[in-house]
Amino acid sequence: MKTVVITGSARGLGLEMAKVFRKNDFNVVISDLREENLQKAIEGLKGIDGKGDLSYKVCNVTESREVEDLVHFVKEKYQEIDIWVNNAGVNQPDKAIWELEDSAIELVLNVDLKGTILCSKYVMKEMENQKHGAIYNVEGYGSNDATMLGLSIYGTAKRGVTYFTEALAKENATRNTGVIVGKLSPGIMITDFITNALANKEKIELSEKTKKVYNILGDYPDVVAAFLVNGMIHSTKNNAKIDWLPNRKAAWRFMTAAFNKRDFFKEK
Ligand SMILES: NC(=O)c1ccc[n+]([C@@H]2O[C@H](COP(=O)([O-])OP(=O)(O)OC[C@H]3O[C@@H](n4cnc5c(N)ncnc54)[C@H](O)[C@@H]3O)[C@@H](O)[C@H]2O)c1
Repeated sequence: MKTVVITGSARGLGLEMAKVFRKNDFNVVISDLREENLQKAIEGLKGIDGKGDLSYKVCNVTESREVEDLVHFVKEKYQEIDIWVNNAGVNQPDKAIWELEDSAIELVLNVDLKGTILCSKYVMKEMENQKHGAIYNVEGYGSNDATMLGLSIYGTAKRGVTYFTEALAKENATRNTGVIVGKLSPGIMITDFITNALANKEKIELSEKTKKVYNILGDYPDVVAAFLVNGMIHSTKNNAKIDWLPNRKAAWRFMTAAFNKRDFFKEK
């Protein structure tokens, strides 16, 4: 039985990916900041048919010690780690760079970039020993060099994640470790992330223009998760990008926007 570990998976895309891995009979390990959220998520996962085991561990990805503990927990419990997904992420407040608190800048860079680096570092050591495994890092706005007011620090972090992932893939190929590394590009998803900054500390008010774009390009995370997990299960290529919303699909969504009746934001 294969084992997958997903960071930041008590909700949103991480939890949806966990559900799809469960349906595919993986042992699934979820991790996040708060135990009570993980317990709730595990209860939901138990309701899904799957032959694998389920477990959780609290892990703040910005803390080396907690990351190391998570890696050792999984190794002890399941012996091998087949897939590790660096999914934990926080959004930034919708402000210009010079209006942001230093603490906000630090949190976004720490979770989105440093967290991905630390997790990759500690899991790589184990995967190199087992001579196989796959690490996938979640990209985001900025990964492709796009810039926009209100997403500059997040974009800096995610551009860094993309560079880092490519560099890690190269190092793996150079060392012939047998491990593959790849990028997950989820497009825009209607999750708590789009209206919450800094791990739920600040609300983001979406403008009507932003909502319009999200209605055209956005999707619920379960749909995106099914696509990404299918890609991860079947990919054997190092430095692959599993891309839910490539440019041609985004262009098609805009071209057909007049026929698009989706409204993710209408009052229930
Ligand atoms: N929602 C989108 O439109 C979108 C678009 C592109 C990329 N992404 C990326 O997808 C990933 C998942 O986003 P989501 O939309 O599901 O967001 P979400 O806010 O619903 O989930 C993120 C999870 O990460 C956890 N987390 C935050 N800080 C953490 C830390 N220090 N350690 C461990 N866990 C931590 C949160 O508790 C939360 O459960 C993120 O990396 C995000 O940047 C999101």
